[in-house]
Amino acid sequence: MPAAGLPPHPELARYYRPGEKKRFVREIFDATAEDYERVERLMSLGWGAWYRRRALRRHGLPQGSRGLDVAMGTGLVAREILRLSGDGLFLVGLDPSLGMLHEARKRRPLAAVAAFGEAAPFPADSFDFLTMGYALRHLPDLVLAFREFHRILRPGGKLLILEITPPRRGLGKSLLKWYIRFLTPAAALLFTGHRATAHLWRYFWDTMEVCVPPEEVLQALRVAGFSLVQRFVELGIFSEYTGVKP
Ligand SMILES: C[S@@+](CC[C@H](N)C(=O)[O-])C[C@H]1O[C@@H](n2cnc3c(N)ncnc32)[C@H](O)[C@@H]1O
Repeated sequence: MPAAGLPPHPELARYYRPGEKKRFVREIFDATAEDYERVERLMSLGWGAWYRRRALRRHGLPQGSRGLDVAMGTGLVAREILRLSGDGLFLVGLDPSLGMLHEARKRRPLAAVAAFGEAAPFPADSFDFLTMGYALRHLPDLVLAFREFHRILRPGGKLLILEITPPRRGLGKSLLKWYIRFLTPAAALLFTGHRATAHLWRYFWDTMEVCVPPEEVLQALRVAGFSLVQRFVELGIFSEYTGVKP
């Protein structure tokens, strides 16, 4: 694997022109931010916050006194971190979408920074832990981003990345595709009336389907300098990647 240069998926011409993924992603999250939690609750049948909390706990997070939630979005992971810590730590949420950050701050006043995860505006060794929920596919390059995460974590700092990994083939894959690519967008359109929200959920599936396999994510974490790199899988599809900065 090269020192940098692992896009999480090939360019998707159906959604954006070559080289325009970053702009497309920011614009679609801005346009649909208001609907994100409503549709997420629908799609996860109300279990999304519970599962995020369970994953954090499983991996011993939060730890220390300073945390960063990359791709905070509307704050689904961040709120669970604060809940688990009893509000006893300093947490910063980072996200390039002002729309998503605005939604997060409507729900809870949180320290928020508008930036891309691969260019985080923090000095080296700033955080005791770093989380990122369901944004791996939106990064431009995994090694580049993971190197940045490694830089801003302090030695001993822990990383947790949550992601959905569909089965590679078979009935499980077909069912999940039906659920995420067809049923969820149809329900989203019905409940919100917004085509862009339905489009976002189709985009989610299309990126999941062509995302690099977990072995490459794990290898990218090692290349970026993480140790104790592991993947825990819940219910066959929920990937929890962890690593520690030595
Ligand atoms: C599916 S949402 C996940 C939000 C939240 N973490 C959760 O668990 O629900 C993905 C988020 O990733 C953000 N994002 C997209 N590209 C990013 C990047 N390069 N760096 C950091 N965040 C990014 C989007 O703006 C969006 O808020």
